[in-house]
Amino acid sequence: MKPNPKPSNPDALKLSTDLLKGWRRSLIKLGKVPRGFNKKAAASDQIIDALIRESRSDVAQLWSIFNQERSQIGQYLNSPKREVIAYLLGFHLPNIARYQAMLIRSHQRHQLFDGFKNFSHIHLVDLGCGTGALTLGMLDLISRFKATPKSVTIDLVDRQKEFLNSAKAIIEENFSHLPNKRIITGRLFVKEYAEKLLAQDFDKSSCIVIQLGYLLNEIQRNPKEMKALCMMIEQLIKKQLAFAVTSIDSSVPSHAKFMMNFREFCRDQGLQTVYPCNHNNPCPMFKDDRDWCYSESEWQPPREQLAIDKYLDIERRRLGSSSYMLVSPQLLDITWIKQPSQVIVGRPTAQSNGKSHKVFHYLLCSNKALEKSKQQPHSNKYQLRGEYFKDTTRC
Ligand SMILES: C[S@@+](CC[C@H](N)C(=O)[O-])C[C@H]1O[C@@H](n2cnc3c(N)ncnc32)[C@H](O)[C@@H]1O
Repeated sequence: MKPNPKPSNPDALKLSTDLLKGWRRSLIKLGKVPRGFNKKAAASDQIIDALIRESRSDVAQLWSIFNQERSQIGQYLNSPKREVIAYLLGFHLPNIARYQAMLIRSHQRHQLFDGFKNFSHIHLVDLGCGTGALTLGMLDLISRFKATPKSVTIDLVDRQKEFLNSAKAIIEENFSHLPNKRIITGRLFVKEYAEKLLAQDFDKSSCIVIQLGYLLNEIQRNPKEMKALCMMIEQLIKKQLAFAVTSIDSSVPSHAKFMMNFREFCRDQGLQTVYPCNHNNPCPMFKDDRDWCYSESEWQPPREQLAIDKYLDIERRRLGSSSYMLVSPQLLDITWIKQPSQVIVGRPTAQSNGKSHKVFHYLLCSNKALEKSKQQPHSNKYQLRGEYFKDTTRC
């Protein structure tokens, strides 16, 4: 396989070497190579290349399943083992990147990881954990921002046993050194887990982080599961606990609008929006049916991911997602007044100004309303949805 090509944007997010190494080691342990391939005699790069050749048609199948109407998704490939490998190859790393992009922006805006330092215990909940992408992304940043607490509990919850086993194995692979860590796997549906979590006692030294990675699009039309999730949030608020609700999910308009409503629900309960908004007011994008909010981020995919994307005939250096983070006031007390920035929520195509060059406007969301930016000189380097707007007309 060829070495990594030069990244198109050197500022784009790069996953940590440790996360990539753990991913490769896990793939080699869990994956099945083609018949006749001698795993013992091969270098790790060669094994991964063989795994990609063996599983890339499964990744393509999963890709097409995920691009269907997402709430219709039931069984993935009818083979849990093959699903895990296809998921690890096709979706695991981009989802870590999507999640980390949101967490890093949340830290830059509200010192998120400094907030975590006020707690001696962090209780991570990964609902619909799949291969554990969100927990891995979170633990990696907790360690990068030196916010490691005295103890961590990780609740991995999924309806599928193979996913639970893989998530646990990869987290162990990457974070064996993490002190006082407890990983609990539960082959449960959301409703069963919500009851279990609410039966536990938490004190003021604990902070709970509920992580929802591409789960809401699968349960959004399941009233029992949605009701249980909402009830869990309501009860955690009533108990005045320090907690966060984080979610990354599909950015297609129908689901992005569902996520905008989910933010409204959380806000109505008393949670504060950490990301993507710079205010905690009702979303102004509801006013126009043609608008919906989603985020964009750029990352530097490793060479294996580029090979898979080439096979899928897709380009995923820029990632879209409906990304949200809301927190209870016990976790972070956000002073909105200090956040006068505008968030980019629309990036219209360039229009000619009748002279020699093109100009364009961004659609911006502020704590007052939606507005258009001043005319921006056309450039090949666009700012991304979800970023704070930098006014280049002032330079
Ligand atoms: C698309 S995968 C996402 C995996 C991972 N969270 C990520 O972001 O990469 C969705 C996962 O949710 C699980 N799942 C779907 N509905 C569920 C439910 N009602 N209760 C528990 N797990 C569920 C699936 O088995 C699958 O592993």
